[in-house]
This record gives sequence, C-alpha cells and structure tokens, in this order.
Amino acid sequence: MILNETYTLTGGVQIPKLGLGTWFIDDDKAARAVKDAVAIGYRNIDTAQAYGNERGVGEGVRSCGVARDELFVSTKLAAEIKNYDGAVAAIEGSLAALGLDYIDLMLIHSPQPWDDFRGGDYAEGNREAWRALEDAYNAGKLRSIGVSNFEQKDLENILDVCAVAPQVNQLLVHAGNTPAELLAYCESKSVLVEAYSPIAHGKILKNPEVAAMADRYSVTVPQLCIRYTVQLGTVSLPKTANPEHMRSNAEVDFVISDEDMDTLRGMRARDYGEDSVFPVYSGK
Ligand SMILES: NC(=O)c1ccc[n+]([C@@H]2O[C@H](COP(=O)([O-])OP(=O)(O)OC[C@H]3O[C@@H](n4cnc5c(N)ncnc54)[C@H](OP(=O)(O)O)[C@@H]3O)[C@@H](O)[C@H]2O)c1
Repeated sequence: MILNETYTLTGGVQIPKLGLGTWFIDDDKAARAVKDAVAIGYRNIDTAQAYGNERGVGEGVRSCGVARDELFVSTKLAAEIKNYDGAVAAIEGSLAALGLDYIDLMLIHSPQPWDDFRGGDYAEGNREAWRALEDAYNAGKLRSIGVSNFEQKDLENILDVCAVAPQVNQLLVHAGNTPAELLAYCESKSVLVEAYSPIAHGKILKNPEVAAMADRYSVTVPQLCIRYTVQLGTVSLPKTANPEHMRSNAEVDFVISDEDMDTLRGMRARDYGEDSVFPVYSGK
C-alpha cells in the first residue's frame, strides 16, 4: 500500500511516497487535518513558514498518538530570506512554532522572493541560506535538507559550493505540467523530486481527457493524478482537509500503462484560472 512505501534520500533518511499538503489549511484547522491524516495512515506532512500553520501542524504531530520518529514533517524556509543570520533565526522559528526538537526535511521555498519570482539574481543569498540549512543539518535539527522551485541553474549554484548536496527539490508536477528535463537533471544528481499541486491545485478535476482516462481505470481524477506522480518516481503531496478525500487519495495501488503515462507526460494543461496570480502558477 502506497502509505507504507518510501524512497531513500541521499542522506539515508526514508521519505514516504505520499504526503499531505497543507497550503490553505488554516492554522486552527491544521491540527485536526494532521490527526485525521495520520489516523488514515499518512506519515508525511508538508507545511511551510509561508502557510502560517506550522503551529497547528506541530500540534497535530505532537498529539496524533503516533510516535514522532514514525512521522516525516517538512517545512520550508520563507522565500524572502536570503542571508545566513536570517535563515538561522527562521529555522529556530520553525522548530519553535512546530514545537518539535527536529524537522525531517527543510527546503528553501523558492530561489527568488515571491515578489520577484524567476526574476533577479539571488545566487549568493541562496548559498547563504543553504549554509544555514547545512549547519542545522549537521547539528541534528534537520534530518534532511533540500530546495523547492529550483531550476537547473539554481541547483548548480548550490551544488558547486555545498558541503551537503540538496536531497530534495519540490516542484510543480502534475499531469499537464511535467518538467521532463528538470526531472531528469534532478535524477542525475540524486535529488529526489516532490510533486506539489499533483491535482493541479484542483483545476484538473474538470479536464475531460483526464476524466476519460480515469474512467478506464475505474478510478477518480485525483487518484489517477496522484498515481501518475508516484509512477514518475516523485513524492506526491495532494492537499485536502477532507478525511474522505485523504482516504481515497491513498487508494492508488493500480498501475498506469506505459502508453497512458506517455499521454499524461505529454499533456499540457496549465490554466490555473484565478489562481494564476500565485507566482508558482504564473507560467514563469
Ligand atoms: N513548494 C511550493 O512552492 C508549493 C506550491 C504549491 C503547493 N505546494 C504543496 O503542495 C500541496 C498540494 O498542492 P495544492 O494545495 O496547490 O493543490 P492540489 O493538492 O493539487 O489540489 C488541492 C485541491 O484538490 C482538492 N482535492 C484534493 N483531493 C481531492 C479529492 N479526492 N476529490 C476532490 N477534490 C480533491 C482539494 O479540495 P479539498 O480540500 O476540498 O479536498 C483542493 O481544492 C500544498 O498543500 C503544499 O503543501 C508547494
């Protein structure tokens, strides 16, 4: 069953293949969502400083009844922090907000601040932020470290100087948006990719081509989309606070044929409607 399956990161840490995304789950609802997910069998929870719900996520982790070392908790350093001292303070801030002694994975949320996404040159700032993550990793506060929304040049900027290489790159990956070259580059550098917005932020639910394929497998569109990202070799991070959706999103123990994987890989569906205002859906 997918909930029991893991990948192994370069540092040797096991990461569950399916996780719970928590963007847009309010802080006061996050503990309930985490507890529901853990009761269903989820062991991987993804949050970020920017989501404003680390406190609630941490409360859920601490009170869910499953041992801390059986859970995998990720958070992300705010995209705006591009200096060493700020990053050190923010890592401590996440530990305090979550109320945890350690975090399983911490990512630099974006190579640029959100208001300059895919804009200016933050190479030096990213190296400084990375050094702070490395130091917290070496101190045992972070069990693994990585990046998010990093393109090849952003990864090279870190790989050229780092002591610990990024273990994860969390990227926008869904049927309709499969960055094949970047996925191949990450694989060549042993950087595991996590697929965020695997259901295209909900926008793919109405796609007739995907719905027809899901029908052929007798599964739902979210199940097909989640399975697609897992079969690509990525961690899938669907978001929901609805326990019924959590349950069905984990029922993905079927196999998409090579032909259908090719069809999904070649599909282009990047219309995020009103959510295109978010930098990550801006097409940059
Ligand atoms: N690193 C980054 O920059 C970044 C950017 C975006 C997202 N992320 C991460 O990735 C996670 C997921 O991305 P996302 O939140 O954008 O989108 P998503 O998981 O692709 O889609 C979420 C939407 O799908 C709906 N949904 C989920 N399961 C469903 C089901 N079984 N049936 C019907 N609808 C279902 C949800 O509604 P309900 O809540 O009603 O179920 C919600 O509207 C985030 O929460 C976050 O952790 C990271």
